[in-house]
Amino acid sequence: MEITCKINNVEKRLVFEPHERLLDVLRREGYDGVKNGCSAGDCGTCTVIVNGRAVKSCLMFAAQAKDEEITTIEGIGTDENPHPLQQTFVETGAIQCGFCTPGMILSAKALLDKNPNPTEDEIKRAIEGNLCRCTGYVKIIEAVKLASMRMGGRRK
Ligand code: FES
Ligand code: FES
Repeated sequence: MEITCKINNVEKRLVFEPHERLLDVLRREGYDGVKNGCSAGDCGTCTVIVNGRAVKSCLMFAAQAKDEEITTIEGIGTDENPHPLQQTFVETGAIQCGFCTPGMILSAKALLDKNPNPTEDEIKRAIEGNLCRCTGYVKIIEAVKLASMRMGGRRK
């Protein structure tokens, strides 16, 4: 099969077998920030943003990405100019092994793009599909709150 879609604001042509998942095709195309944790929809490490919504790419056929806009962690920030979420994850210690981090940041970004000033419960709900074995979530929630504030959504 062959489709076109936009990945990180770049038009892409993807070629794949009909049974292939978006996760596998993205990784083959070099977006290896998209992690394969469980391959079964349980861990959230494969999360990407599709048309503004955080989606588990292991549960999506690549064919379903036709004409869609996809954002992976490679499309957010740069080494010199990280996204506020990337910066606050580092500052607060919300990253330990880092395996969950790309998916966690993309779930948080999808939330803040829609809701710049989320409550703690809304943050928890947004990341409930992203498992983290290291941090205990407290620092992750702190990082999302801090990014929200820096992005203008929260007052000090
Ligand atoms: S790899 Fe997709 S949810 Fe775990
Ligand atoms: S930092 Fe290790 S799983 Fe989250």
